[in-house]
Amino acid sequence: MADKQAELEVGGETYDFPTIQGSVGPDVIDIRKLYGTTGRFTYDPGYKSTASCESALTYIDGDEGVLLHRGYPIGQLAEQSSFMEVSYLLLNGELPSKDELDEFSHTITYHTMIHDQMRQFYQGFRRDAHPMAIMCGVVGALSAFYHDSTDISDPEQRKIASHRLIAKMPTIAAWAYKYSVGQPFLYPNNSLSYTGNFLRMTFGVPAEDYEVVPAVEKAMDRIFILHADHEQNASTSTVRLAGSSGANPFACISAGIACLWGPAHGGANEAALNMLREIGTPDRIPHYIERAKDKNDPFRLMGFGHRVYKNYDPRATVMQKTVREVFDALNVSDPVFETALRLEEMALQDDYFVEKKLFPNVDFYSGVILSAIGFPTTMFTALFALARTVGWVAQWNEMISDPDQVIGRPRQLYTGPTARDYVPIGQR
Ligand code: SDX
Repeated sequence: MADKQAELEVGGETYDFPTIQGSVGPDVIDIRKLYGTTGRFTYDPGYKSTASCESALTYIDGDEGVLLHRGYPIGQLAEQSSFMEVSYLLLNGELPSKDELDEFSHTITYHTMIHDQMRQFYQGFRRDAHPMAIMCGVVGALSAFYHDSTDISDPEQRKIASHRLIAKMPTIAAWAYKYSVGQPFLYPNNSLSYTGNFLRMTFGVPAEDYEVVPAVEKAMDRIFILHADHEQNASTSTVRLAGSSGANPFACISAGIACLWGPAHGGANEAALNMLREIGTPDRIPHYIERAKDKNDPFRLMGFGHRVYKNYDPRATVMQKTVREVFDALNVSDPVFETALRLEEMALQDDYFVEKKLFPNVDFYSGVILSAIGFPTTMFTALFALARTVGWVAQWNEMISDPDQVIGRPRQLYTGPTARDYVPIGQR
């Protein structure tokens, strides 16, 4: 629904391009015909001013610190919903009825097992392999076992593949942890919730029954909700780009996992806790804040700053509150939380962070909670990938089912040598 034109004057010519208004957020200038009419490209490395697609899944207002999933504020979903319900919402567009939620949860539960032959994949990794290396490999390998859900032109196969990915991530992630600590794998237990099942597969042992602590289950489920989807972030864009070539969904999600691993993205939760532990006590914070401000020092405050949020990341607000709930439930404390709170307070009083609008993001406090629950830092990004799989899958489905979808193929500004003749080696 273009409601007005954008006029571009270049090379002495004037060109009109339609603008399109979304349901909320900035209008877009439709430049799909720009190259054909002006012979020019736009230039936007990092896509800071580029809308790569149309989507109805998630909306972020970075200035206001607002995050909506299908219109519902993240704070309300985190407090009142469940990860299974949010997964249904992202995939289907509406909150489910009780029967719909029960059926969806049952479907997911009955896809949590993975082909038993896949256990052997783990044996190929070193015990100290990073869990994200294992996740990339094992998730990509799913396409070798589930051929009956790789035909992306078949909506039913897309649905089964989506359910399989959401359902199997907890098993794959839990087994990555078990493998790293040399403990036997536990199979899924269908009598447990999605999140309770994951906790048991991760921390349970065959020698005794595992008791899911309700407060921990609730906190973990909330953490999954907070990581479920987030517009066209780097890993989601990776999944969409991979999917645009017609690659099967398992390969696309494996590509998303690889991208998420980076410390500028999902790897920041691991890096943030490592940073907080390196800082140690609050008296050392000023030194690290000065390092973060120093242009000549590559150090950055991990868990701080965001491409879109120029206000407090609403997920960090919920995360900070959840730290206290988990500490109380487990009757634990961790001085690193006080360091994190003090670091946030001091950074937000510093002109550098204020002027650049750098606030804590989803990764700043999550590691404190995950560490208190018992996860090693190397598992933090694997947990992010576990939760983000529903977002990746929902975005992939949205793209694949768009009849106008085409393969993504950006152009470039070429600054290399112009055409020249080959010089035989004897004449160089
Ligand atoms: C996630 O996109 C998403 O939605 C991602 C995510 C999701 O749910 O999918 O929200 C998850 O990835 C959260 C972000 C996790 N990453 C970190 O916490 C790593 C630390 N933060 C950054 O490296 C950085 O803030 C980014 C990568 C998150 C955003 O980088 P941008 O948008 O490209 O901004 P920038 O690097 O251009 O920074 C702008 C300025 C720069 O200074 P100047 O060159 O203008 O002088 O702010 C500075 C930066 O040096 N800056 C920081 C900083 N982040 C930005 N300085 C110190 N510490 C930081 N953390």
